[in-house]
Amino acid sequence: MLKSIVQTVFIILPSLSLSFAALYENDGELDPAARYDYVIIGGGTAGSVLANRLTEDTLISVLVLEAGGSNIGAVPTEIPFFCTLPHPQYDWNYTTTAQVGLNDRKIGFARGFILGGSSSISRYRRAYRSSESYQLTTPIDGLFYTRGSEDDFNRLANVTGDSGWTWENLQPFFRRNERWTPPADNHNTTGQYDPSIHSLNGINAVSLAGFPQSINGKIIQASSELGGIFEYNLDMNSGNPLGLGKSLFYCDYGQDAYRVYEGWLQTTIDGGNRSSAATSYLGPRFINRPNLHVLTNTRVTAILQKNNASSNDMSAMLTTVEFASTPTGPRHRVTASKEVLLSAGAIGTPQILMNSGIGNSTSLASLGIKPLIDLPSVGQNFSDHPRLVNSWAVSGNQTFDEIYRNSTLSEALQNLWNTKGKGPLVDTFVSHLLFARLNHSALDGFGEDPAAGEHTAHYELGFSNGDISVATTGHYIGITTRVVTPVSRGSISLNTTDPFSPPIINPALLSTDFDIFAMRQAVRTGIQFLRAPVWSGYILGDPNTLMVPGANTSFQATNDEQLDEYIRMGTGTSAHAVGTAAMTRLDAGYGVVDPDFRVKGVKGLRVVDASIFPFVPSAHTQAPVYVIAERAAAMIKNELG
Ligand SMILES: Cc1cc2nc3c(=O)[nH]c(=O)nc-3n(C[C@H](O)[C@H](O)[C@H](O)COP(=O)(O)OP(=O)(O)OC[C@H]3O[C@@H](n4cnc5c(N)ncnc54)[C@H](O)[C@@H]3O)c2cc1C
Ligand SMILES: *[C@@H]1O[C@H](CO)[C@@H](O)[C@H](O)[C@H]1NC(C)=O
Ligand SMILES: *[C@@H]1O[C@H](CO)[C@@H](O)[C@H](O)[C@H]1NC(C)=O
Ligand SMILES: *[C@@H]1O[C@H](CO)[C@@H](O)[C@H](O)[C@H]1NC(C)=O
Ligand SMILES: *[C@@H]1O[C@H](CO)[C@@H](O)[C@H](O)[C@H]1NC(C)=O
Ligand SMILES: *[C@@H]1O[C@H](CO)[C@@H](O)[C@H](O)[C@H]1NC(C)=O
Ligand SMILES: *[C@@H]1O[C@H](CO)[C@@H](O)[C@H](O)[C@H]1NC(C)=O
Ligand SMILES: *[C@@H]1O[C@H](CO)[C@@H](O)[C@H](O)[C@H]1NC(C)=O
Ligand SMILES: *[C@@H]1O[C@H](CO)[C@@H](O)[C@H](O)[C@H]1NC(C)=O
Ligand SMILES: *[C@@H]1O[C@H](CO)[C@@H](O)[C@H](O)[C@H]1NC(C)=O
Ligand SMILES: *[C@@H]1O[C@H](CO)[C@@H](O)[C@H](O)[C@H]1NC(C)=O
Ligand SMILES: *[C@@H]1O[C@H](CO)[C@@H](O)[C@H](O)[C@H]1NC(C)=O
Ligand SMILES: *[C@@H]1O[C@H](CO)[C@@H](O)[C@H](O)[C@H]1NC(C)=O
Repeated sequence: MLKSIVQTVFIILPSLSLSFAALYENDGELDPAARYDYVIIGGGTAGSVLANRLTEDTLISVLVLEAGGSNIGAVPTEIPFFCTLPHPQYDWNYTTTAQVGLNDRKIGFARGFILGGSSSISRYRRAYRSSESYQLTTPIDGLFYTRGSEDDFNRLANVTGDSGWTWENLQPFFRRNERWTPPADNHNTTGQYDPSIHSLNGINAVSLAGFPQSINGKIIQASSELGGIFEYNLDMNSGNPLGLGKSLFYCDYGQDAYRVYEGWLQTTIDGGNRSSAATSYLGPRFINRPNLHVLTNTRVTAILQKNNASSNDMSAMLTTVEFASTPTGPRHRVTASKEVLLSAGAIGTPQILMNSGIGNSTSLASLGIKPLIDLPSVGQNFSDHPRLVNSWAVSGNQTFDEIYRNSTLSEALQNLWNTKGKGPLVDTFVSHLLFARLNHSALDGFGEDPAAGEHTAHYELGFSNGDISVATTGHYIGITTRVVTPVSRGSISLNTTDPFSPPIINPALLSTDFDIFAMRQAVRTGIQFLRAPVWSGYILGDPNTLMVPGANTSFQATNDEQLDEYIRMGTGTSAHAVGTAAMTRLDAGYGVVDPDFRVKGVKGLRVVDASIFPFVPSAHTQAPVYVIAERAAAMIKNELG
């Protein structure tokens, strides 16, 4: 078998450079006679990890089918700071349904359409600029490396009944993923992180910021001025984003106080370049393995039973994958000799499952899809972190606002990035993150605490030295607020049976009392932070006065109704979608995959991507996705013996 793959590489691709010999860009290049042990659907974050780890074993052959194009040469995706600009060519360009919790707005919902998937992109549409684009706010996010809390993973272990998912037991997989690297400016990072919890030997680069922002000193000073409530956190990736071994509640306030912790953001950046799943796990060291074939620009339309078994023959393996380049082009099939690994992400995965007859049989039948397996949880319990960008005008002019407005400056900085790997473009737009919990009296009003445990934050603030909603004049400080333990649950469902048309995407953001309450508290914590003495004279105006840029209205945070209106007008997604193919216990009676990623009731098919998280971790989701994919790969290899 391997021999034929090697021949495939060298015979049909004489024109491609040898270092990328196994990267095919159209379906005609694939040898129809080639055989693969594993077919991976989606060359995104999780898919790239699987492809890499499985092909470490030279006897395992793998085909990756990716809908988007290659990341090679996609320069805008490589420059960290440009994660704040739109890259629609690398995006699925999804729009949600009208969101009740967001004043009935439909919002953009970014997903990577490129090798590396969502780890390769970040996209921001100038949401507030004009009335017609006002409806759409897309994520302003990118490259954050946050692992979540130990509680998040311990809860996953509890919900799935598999102790392999505890924080403790996952540590080797965090280490396989992470390659700690120096920041682009090589500054002395002592005191900015805890080296003992990081790994130098993994594959995906992680670093601290490589360009000093003028507000960094003020952020740290504010934290100390507000001491007792706001506290410096050496390393938010310790498993306790709320502080290393420190008690959660400040004794003067007893059980009713809350504390918040801020610290330096860690990012998936390698010496000033984005480190995505494609640049790392499918990087030049790996992509030319002869046992790895990657076919881009190819859409998987369905997964079928091997040899066209009849749908009531449930002993048949679901190992045949149907794919096509265009809606009208030929449909091809490839059958994995071992397994199909579905890694199309939290939107693509339920869409493919449902197109294949796996989902709620009643609703599939009503669409005209022949039900194969009744798994009503497919596409349900869709969960995401609501995100709001807040900006305040400042008196200083050392902000990054000018980069968006002055093309001479922007070009000079791109040149600096390109030639020296230095300057403000080497970083994402946030330098510090702050995690916080609601206090006990606040939580009491909601019954069950939605956080996975007491070391888990309810909300997060990220500080930016400029306005990322791209105001046309002035200088700003930005605080991005997110609810990281949302209670709202949405869904992904099919609109048509056409696999090339988008599914119906309803993240149901801010659709619960808890979520709006926590977002209100997050904004107020941001305001409280800006009331530290160090900001006086720097912040212009009263921090309580909030503006939605372009909305021609200001809102007073002192008034709950106005604050809620402001929140519902401005909130969008963090693009941290999970839950649509949830992992549950073997005997759960709901959920989509077992703790070993196998689709319940099906042979030969596993789901490995963000969809499997039954609860969204209290973290930006790429590190959690990397970690579950690392464990999945290890499980699969172990089973092979
Ligand atoms: C704009 C943006 C910014 C983000 N910023 C951060 C951040 O700063 N920090 C963080 O931790 N997380 C961030 N996230 C979230 C994080 O990137 C995702 O949670 C994670 O990458 C999801 O990994 P995945 O493997 O589940 O899916 P993806 O990485 O999205 O991979 C799915 C892949 O499957 C492909 N695919 C889908 N359907 C098909 C099909 N039918 N046929 C073939 N291929 C298909 C897609 O093109 C894609 O390549 C961000 C996400 C986005 C979109
Ligand atoms: C999204 O739109 C851009 C054009 O703006 C296009 O290049 C890209 O292919 C679209 N993505 C998909 C998945 O169709
Ligand atoms: C899961 O958590 C519940 C509630 O805390 C506890 O009673 C139960 O023992 C836990 N189960 C496992 C398998 O850890
Ligand atoms: C880095 O800073 C620490 C503490 O500030 C100091 O002890 C150490 O010597 C510095 N390292 C280098 C290489 O300068
Ligand atoms: C607890 O939180 C509530 C709601 O945010 C707030 O009104 C109250 O002042 C807080 N209590 C303390 C002691 O901080
Ligand atoms: C960043 O990318 C540039 C351009 O591809 C490359 O020259 C440089 O070596 C990269 N830096 C690192 C640290 O990989
Ligand atoms: C499987 O069934 C489809 C449609 O029913 C048919 O087009 C195809 O030729 C069959 N393939 C095999 C291998 O029998
Ligand atoms: C399946 O979908 C139908 C309607 O499409 C709905 O009434 C039913 O409750 C769903 N089943 C489950 C178990 O969720
Ligand atoms: C959604 O998740 C909850 C647990 O949080 C579970 O009780 C419920 O059954 C799930 N719903 C579906 C449709 O899977
Ligand atoms: C920036 O501010 C400084 C000090 O306040 C001032 O001297 C300088 O002229 C300003 N620069 C610009 C470009 O406005
Ligand atoms: C734009 O940036 C360039 C380079 O920093 C600077 O020389 C120029 O004065 C700026 N233009 C404006 C209008 O601020
Ligand atoms: C569903 O499909 C119909 C018909 O093609 C289309 O008009 C509608 O916009 C689609 N809805 C969504 C949410 O995509
Ligand atoms: C902003 O609001 C004011 C007062 O309501 C109104 O006069 C003005 O026309 C509005 N401007 C825009 C651009 O909508």
